[in-house]
Amino acid sequence: MNSDIGLIGLAVMGQNLALNIADHGFAITVYNRTTAKTDEFIAANRNTPGKLSGSKTVAEFAASLKRPRKAVILVKAGSATDAVIDELAKVFEPGDIIIDGGNALWTDTIRREKALKAKGLRFIGSGVSGGEEGARFGPSLMPGGDPAAWAELKPIWEAVASKVDATTGVERTGAKPGKPIQGGVPCVAYIGPDGAGHYVKMVHNGIEYGDMQMICEAYDLMRGLLGMTPDEVGAVFEEWNRGELNSFLIEITAKVLRQKDPETGAPLVDVILDTAGQKGTGKWTSANALDMGVAAPTIAEAVFARCLSAIKDERVAAAKSLRGPKPRITGKVDRAKVVAQIHDALYSAKICSYAQGFQLMREAQKEYNWKLNFGEIAQIWRGGCIIRASFLQKITEAFGKKPRLANLMLDPYFKKTMRKAQKNWRKVIGLAVKHGIPVPTLGSALAYFDSYRTERLPQNLLQGQRDFFGAHTYERTDKPRGEFFHIDWPNPKRPQIKA
Ligand code: 2AM
Repeated sequence: MNSDIGLIGLAVMGQNLALNIADHGFAITVYNRTTAKTDEFIAANRNTPGKLSGSKTVAEFAASLKRPRKAVILVKAGSATDAVIDELAKVFEPGDIIIDGGNALWTDTIRREKALKAKGLRFIGSGVSGGEEGARFGPSLMPGGDPAAWAELKPIWEAVASKVDATTGVERTGAKPGKPIQGGVPCVAYIGPDGAGHYVKMVHNGIEYGDMQMICEAYDLMRGLLGMTPDEVGAVFEEWNRGELNSFLIEITAKVLRQKDPETGAPLVDVILDTAGQKGTGKWTSANALDMGVAAPTIAEAVFARCLSAIKDERVAAAKSLRGPKPRITGKVDRAKVVAQIHDALYSAKICSYAQGFQLMREAQKEYNWKLNFGEIAQIWRGGCIIRASFLQKITEAFGKKPRLANLMLDPYFKKTMRKAQKNWRKVIGLAVKHGIPVPTLGSALAYFDSYRTERLPQNLLQGQRDFFGAHTYERTDKPRGEFFHIDWPNPKRPQIKA
């Protein structure tokens, strides 16, 4: 019997997604460039309840699939994806469907979709989030591309996706090999044409960068200002995870902070070197924000924070010569009060960071002629993915009530939250500045909030400067928008010239 779907690329994500697909009763053929890996994978999973088979060649792989054929590619994003697509295009027939589940740059997905369409092949670029565990027991899936092809893939993607409760948004957990989750709302929805799915996945990753850095700053403040131990900070995150900050990242942060180094017995965080790596999706998100002229400073600061962390040697040297204040608050301090303030700073900044992510998607949909459903996007992020959080339910509700909401911060729930929290947020930023603790994301989010709510920004002066040195012209407060003026700055008595 032919397989329902095929999968190419048996690295960690590919192996786990293949087993997840098989667990849901779909017959699947796998293929990997290095055949030994295919053989090992099949041998290791001989007892899987699913219908799993391996192919040694792409031709054999294609011949094993039901028509229209469906093949998921999970190889390293970039040239490997193109190489695999080229191979598949040789053996696939018109109407067949290729699904790229890698972290492709959305513009690559647009290009690939166009090229394959010319050959009669259908292409879906699908974001897959949730890492190894997600791929195995329920990822968050963000497919974009040919709508008719999506209809063919939908039953499989909905089956393998993570599931959340329809009303509470709480993720259903407890899946085991051969025993997947039953019922619930799948964390997958058709995002839009061509590169829309990969674009939304990229923004998800940008938001993830922001979330992680904001959490790190909250941790750093507790350690620096209050001198708390990793265990103590871990206990705070455990507590926070029971409230409105409830999320996968807060949960794992507590676990990371509680972990002892098996070698020295010291808290493992104290042993881990403070230089961060990155694979590029945060950079793509930030670069795209700059390209489109959309403010996403908190996401960009999260990327820059990793860049600064990476120049460890320079920082070690600079620490000896660039002196600042002592991080620790001296004298009597109400620890619980400061911790509560940090909580509010973190939650408020998180709202701003997500607001930026949604602003990006709003602009991108104009640029690429997509129609994104923001409530649904928040919904499919509630389970399976790295940024999964209770708070996403509030975003779904916000866009559900007002699909054209100008900015998340304007939704009544978030407005109220920030009104209540902003005093504490400002206190925390003040403390950070006073004590020399860097808070690039918590601070930039506050600047974003304050800029967005300011009726008259100092860019009047900026326009004056631009007109002074470059005759770039300006608009006037007392004239209709779109009318441009310039004065001859050295001879200001001369009349203004309408540009
Ligand atoms: P390999 O096992 O043969 O190296 C992650 O790198 C996955 O992508 C692996 O399954 C790897 O196959 C596959 N991969 C990387 N480059 C590839 C290419 N040019 N063609 C096909 N598969 C590739």
